[in-house]
Order: sequence, then C-alpha cells, then structure tokens
Amino acid sequence: MTIREVATTPFPDQKPGTSGLRKKVPVFQQPGYAENFIQSILDSLEGFAGRALVIGGDGRYHNRAVIQTAIRMAAANGFGTILVGRGGILSTPAASHLIRLHGAFGGIILSASHNPGGPTEDFGIKYNIANGGPAPERITDAIFARSKTIDRYRIFDAPDVDLDRDGETRVGDAVVRVIDPVADYATLMEQLFDFPAIRELIGSGFRIAFDAMSAVTGPYAIEILEHRLGAPKGTVRNGTPLPDFGGHHPDPNLVHARALYDEMMGSDAPDFGAASDGDGDRNLIIGKGIFVTPSDSLAMLAANAHLAPGYARGLAGIARSMPTSAAADRVAEALGIPLFETPTGWKFFGNLLDAGQATICGEESAGTGSDHVREKDGLWAVLLWLNILAARRQSVQAIATEHWARFGRNYYARHDYEGVDTAAGDALIADLRGRLAGLPGTTIGALRIEAADDFAYHDPIDGTQSHGQGIRILFEGGSRIVFRLSGTGTSGATIRVYIERYEPVGGNLGRATGDAIADLIVAAETIAGIARHTGRTAPDVIT
Ligand code: G6P
Ligand code: ZN
Repeated sequence: MTIREVATTPFPDQKPGTSGLRKKVPVFQQPGYAENFIQSILDSLEGFAGRALVIGGDGRYHNRAVIQTAIRMAAANGFGTILVGRGGILSTPAASHLIRLHGAFGGIILSASHNPGGPTEDFGIKYNIANGGPAPERITDAIFARSKTIDRYRIFDAPDVDLDRDGETRVGDAVVRVIDPVADYATLMEQLFDFPAIRELIGSGFRIAFDAMSAVTGPYAIEILEHRLGAPKGTVRNGTPLPDFGGHHPDPNLVHARALYDEMMGSDAPDFGAASDGDGDRNLIIGKGIFVTPSDSLAMLAANAHLAPGYARGLAGIARSMPTSAAADRVAEALGIPLFETPTGWKFFGNLLDAGQATICGEESAGTGSDHVREKDGLWAVLLWLNILAARRQSVQAIATEHWARFGRNYYARHDYEGVDTAAGDALIADLRGRLAGLPGTTIGALRIEAADDFAYHDPIDGTQSHGQGIRILFEGGSRIVFRLSGTGTSGATIRVYIERYEPVGGNLGRATGDAIADLIVAAETIAGIARHTGRTAPDVIT
C-alpha cells in the first residue's frame, strides 16, 4: 500500500453553496473532480493528524465510489481513524451525532439532500466540523480558494474497503471502522423520548404512516418505529434507500409526498403521517385531515416539548429563520424565554445551540431540530410529535386547534416563482430595497404597512453581521410578507414570497389558508410588481 501524490489542475466551479458542493453526477465523475474537492477540504483544515473522521452518505447514485475515494484520501492525509456507516449510509443528523459522540475532528457527508438522484441527477459533498454542524463560511471560503489553486492530491493505492461488513481494516496507518449507521442514533432518540409511552400509544391501535421516500431514513425509521416502538411492519413505506430514490424527488412536501397527503385527507386515514427527505434532515407532518405547516410544527413542538423526557427541564430559547412564521414567537413569549430570528440556513443556529441559548430551532423549509445534534433532524421531529401525542392522547387536529385558541394562528403559505431570469429576480429585490423607506404608513386595501426593512442579523455570540437577508413588509396587527431569492437553486433565480396573516386569540381561527391570506397575496403583487418584473402571474409552487 503506497501513498500517491497525483498532479491535478483546478476546476473553476467548486464553490460550496448553502450545504456543500452540489453538482450533477457526470460533473462529479470527471477524473479528479471529487478528489480535488476532497483534497481542498483537507487542505483547509488544521490539526487532524491521528484524529477521527466520520464518512457517510444518503445512498444516492455515486455514493459508494466517492466513499472509497474519501477513505483513501483521508488516510493518505493523516487521519488516524475513519468511521464509515455500513453500506456507506449515514443520515445527516446521524452523521452529526456520530461526530459528537466520538469526539471526531469532523465529517464528510455525501448528499444532495432532497434533490433527485441517479446517473444524470444530483450528487453532493459537504464538510461538518467537530460540533457536528455544517462548516462555517470561514472554512467553505477557504475550501473554495484552495480548489482554485490545487495542483496535487494525496491518495492511498489500496483495495476497496468492504463497506457491507462491520469491523476494522487498515488503510496505511489509519484504522477504518465500518459501523452500524443506525444503532447510536436510535439510542440517542431513546434517551430523548418516552419510548414506553409511544409504544403504549401504538399498542392501543394508533396508526402511523411514514414515507421514507426510498431515501436514507428507511433503515432508521424501520429500526425505531417498527422494531423499537412496535409499529406494525409496513408502517414505514419506501423504506429501502435506492440510488435513484425510485425516480422521485425525495422532498417531503405536499407535491412530492402527494400520495401520503391524499391518504391522510381520506376517510380511512391513519392517525399520523410523516415523511423525511433524501438525507433525513427534513420532515413533513400530517395529522388525520390536517397538514401542519413547518412553522406551526415548530411552535407546537416548542409549546409541548416539556412532555418529552429530554426536554422536561424546559427550553432555554427558541430560534427560527426570519421567513419562518412568528407562531413560535408567541410560544417563546408565553414561556418567558428568548426567541432568536436568524437568516435562512441551519448554520446560523450553530452558535446559539453551542452557547446553550436556544434549545429548539426550526425553519419554514421543513427543518426542525434541537441541541441534540447540530443539523436539523427529520425523525427527531416525528418522534417528538409522537411523544406529545402519547402524552396528551389527543389527535393532531385537537392539539392544533387548542394551540391556535391559546396563541392565535399564523396563517401561512410560501409562493415560489422558479426559473426566473436572474437579472429580473435581482431587479425585483433591488427595486423593493429602493422603495423601503417610503412604505411605512401606506395602505393597501384594509392593510396598513407598519414597517419595512431588509433583514440584517447580528450574531449575539460571535458578533458576525449578515446583511441583505430578505425584504420584510410588516403590517399592523402582526401580518407579514417577506421577499427573498433562494440560495439553493441550480438554474436561474427562484423568488420566494412568504405570506403570513396573524389572527389573534378569539378571531376566526378555522379558515382555509388560501382565503385567510387572499388580501395579502394581492398586496404582495401590488408592492413588488412580480408580474411586471418577471412576466409571471402565478407562482409555480405553493407550499
Ligand atoms: C437548505 C438549508 C436550510 C435552508 C434552505 C433554504 O435546505 O439546509 O437551512 O432553510 O436551504 O433554501 P432556499 O432555497 O430558500 O435558500
Ligand atoms: Zn436534507
């Protein structure tokens, strides 16, 4: 076994996005492409000699090939121990947990999250740091800078590691340990939640439908829901991770998890429906006859978290991304704890979690999680819901209705305009920015604008400033419209319009969302001129 120094030339397009480097599989299959990026990661880190690295992925097409490459390169660059999930599998939250559990230096996670997989679809590589969370910009900037000047990479000439058998092998001086990808994570969940109570609920005939979307959460959900909690076989659908996710988008929303949604709205609906995404960090929660928006889910989980053993001592604080509805704010107020409003992106929660300022975090983009790891966690959200349902012995509908009666209701929808010309998207935002100062005090129909700004965040822990994070139009009475450009798109621009109507306690709390926000939809067009800028008269996706 020898280490090879391979001469290489830079690829110009290796800038990590919100969640690492994401490209089509054929791009990653170019000779040296994955190697260059992995070496750029390793060259951007210091002090890992002899330390441990966690490696795993969501099982999508090309996963196994890049895992073998990453093992050989990590060993050749001096890591002492390499922990790999059996079969090359690790969900993003499970990888985050393993990094923390083993005191690893960091982890390489191979995933393109909820994007489709397959020979011509998406692949991704991201690096997580020792706290288990995504690398901060300081590191991703360094990785990109290095990728532009890289001229060699180091790799072991070594046979493939058998990924399908637990145990240890050596690659040079490094010990490669193939481990059960599920066991430690399942144990962590058992420590946080009241499994006996959930088991009893299920034993009483409570029916669950979990759609793993042929993605990474299948083995986790089968072990936890069916084996440890006693749900009947078949509770987990699409439970085998497939390289192409069965040809579907593993995105747990009302479009791509339509079959589950339809079933939950039907007359023979199970009591609880849920789904997770490609790499297991997003969640979808649907009760019998009721879809719970991610913003409401965050608020309801926070209001009831004390019912789970892991949160029985209460929450230190709640954090949400700015476009996420203010439903959680009312819970924080009632609990007498701080509410943090951060820019979009899970990485902004890391400092608050590390500092013990926030316990639960959530985003409108279907992410919820807590300080148990440093990523959002789909199955965690499902289990906290189940724990609450087991403790309260009420339906999801009843819990939601009582929640709104106590806190008021934030009717909420997101309108996406996809594949918009980049210049038109930029112009719309620039135009809005230019008019912000004149908006307060003006009225549109019965709506009166109270304030308007371009969201900026001052990180209370490390003092970092982030500007230009989205245009907020705040109306009297607590309703709101937010405009921002997506940071995760791959072609053109996606304009996201987040629309929220606050209906206070005692108001009309049982309306259809579309009706409740109709006047705000009109106001969004009046304020931003979406049709004028983009030629679009209706959104492509409403979530
Ligand atoms: C990723 C991040 C999330 C973030 C989302 C925003 O999924 O992990 O933390 O909320 O991107 O996506 P957008 O397309 O709205 O920028
Ligand atoms: Zn994901």
